[in-house]
Amino acid sequence: MIEKEKNQNDIIDQELLNSFGIDYIFNSKPINRFKNKPTIENINSRLNNLKEKVKNINNCDLKNNAKQIVFNDGNSNSPVMIVGEGPGQKEDELGKPFVGEAGQLLNKMLNAINIKRENIYITNVVNYRPPNNRKPEPAEINRYSEFLREHISIIDPKILILMGSTAMEALFGSKIKISKERGTWKELIINNKTFLTMITFHPAYLLRQADQKKYSWADLKEIRKKIDELKFKI
Ligand code: URA
Repeated sequence: MIEKEKNQNDIIDQELLNSFGIDYIFNSKPINRFKNKPTIENINSRLNNLKEKVKNINNCDLKNNAKQIVFNDGNSNSPVMIVGEGPGQKEDELGKPFVGEAGQLLNKMLNAINIKRENIYITNVVNYRPPNNRKPEPAEINRYSEFLREHISIIDPKILILMGSTAMEALFGSKIKISKERGTWKELIINNKTFLTMITFHPAYLLRQADQKKYSWADLKEIRKKIDELKFKI
């Protein structure tokens, strides 16, 4: 009885197959439907290519006035990626993002939720210091957002944190307000891939507006909660 049922349910009818006159070869190995995780060498080589692409940008007021490119810092294999606005004076001098006063506050904010800065990945919307630390122009944000989207695809973070309105505008457009959008999880889609994203205030803004730190703290706790929920190590 069991044998009969088995035969009835068997989708491979040998007689039917033979009537097609085709030699089928069956593989007993399962199909790997999941893309292999890229190696760290692969990620770093794609990052280098992207960095070269940014370095070759033409007619850019930011590049023309900056000392050097400020591309990234941290662990390129991290599940957490932070995007700021653009380099300031100190970052321009040292070639690393978030090493000035705002960077000091960022380190404290991360420590407060038990994250070491070296375990996450950090970049900015624009990779050259805007003259006199001005906010990047909408056209500049737009131009660099192509690079940023590729940057996010390469790092492929489980959690993306956008700090400040420039990072928010680069990826979600300029029609929204950070005061309304911060603090809730959003889905950012890049090349058919969805990235879990949190918009929050920029540390430089918090240095000017200390009364806003309470909102930032709420966002940080939400980020910690999500990391614990998703159970990844950081
Ligand atoms: N502010 C930013 O947005 N990025 C930096 O790297 C430094 C300050």
